[in-house]
Amino acid sequence: MKHLLKLSDLSESDFSEILDLADKLKYERKNGISHKLLQDKTLGMIFRKSSTRTRVSFEVGIHELGGQGLFLSSNDLQIGRGEDAADTVRVLSRYLDGIMIRTFDQQEVEDMAKFGTIPIINGLTDYAHPCQVLADLMTIREYKKDLKGKKMTFIGDGNNMANSLIVGGIKCGMEVAIACPDEYKPDADIIKWAEANGKFTCTPDIMKASDGADVLYTDVWASMGQEGEAAKRRVAFEGYQINSKVYGAANEGAMVLHCLPAHKGEEITADVFEAHANEIFDEAENRLHAQKAVMVLLMK
Ligand code: CP
Ligand code: NVA
Repeated sequence: MKHLLKLSDLSESDFSEILDLADKLKYERKNGISHKLLQDKTLGMIFRKSSTRTRVSFEVGIHELGGQGLFLSSNDLQIGRGEDAADTVRVLSRYLDGIMIRTFDQQEVEDMAKFGTIPIINGLTDYAHPCQVLADLMTIREYKKDLKGKKMTFIGDGNNMANSLIVGGIKCGMEVAIACPDEYKPDADIIKWAEANGKFTCTPDIMKASDGADVLYTDVWASMGQEGEAAKRRVAFEGYQINSKVYGAANEGAMVLHCLPAHKGEEITADVFEAHANEIFDEAENRLHAQKAVMVLLMK
């Protein structure tokens, strides 16, 4: 593994290596055992979109590993004025030991990996959110012990989260169901791959998708960059919500996860969110541990 661009690039053993190391780093952190595995390394963190969790967990993570993080807003970089990714990364490769980038177009992340000489980590694109799903899988493993054979149902927009959950879930042996309106399906190639490689369904029927689920997952109806479509999407996604009725269709003790930020009253009700707050905030915490594992494996 040289980069983390999207989960389809990872092998089954990459997943176990990352998740096992994440568990170990979490244990060490909780027990005051220092692990300065990236002493004096610098991670550049390029953001073309807002972030709370990704920014803070990467910055704290690299610090705890003995290195430092540089927050690079695209508003202040020449990349925000049109300098291309290929040139930017050829320059930054001379200064940095790794780059985390959050942007719109997946191609920009792929170009960084192609033209640069240092590891590139996708911190979210319109297509994928691999760091989030690694933390999600880590959290499901903590609560359910094993991923294999567990059913994960995603309700809502077939967006970056849905795309990455399908790939990550299936590669780890989970059954994945997506409930979304027909016009908002996940990436067509990912659907095709999932149908050929695992137990997968995509349906507009929320109750059918949620039946027998071990994990219910949702995300906002309008992602970053889609703010102008918010009103139209509120109509299209009406009912695509995790609420107590939908939860009732899932298996007893089913987890509820959300990548956050949440719009309570839209994709999830406040009562279901609060009833599962421990799981959701453990999931957010696990961003830190999972990304530390990714950085160690890529940058050491
Ligand atoms: N879940 C997630 O990536 O959160 P941020 O947008 O706050 O980084
Ligand atoms: N789908 C959301 C995820 C945020 C973490 C977005 O792209 O805005």
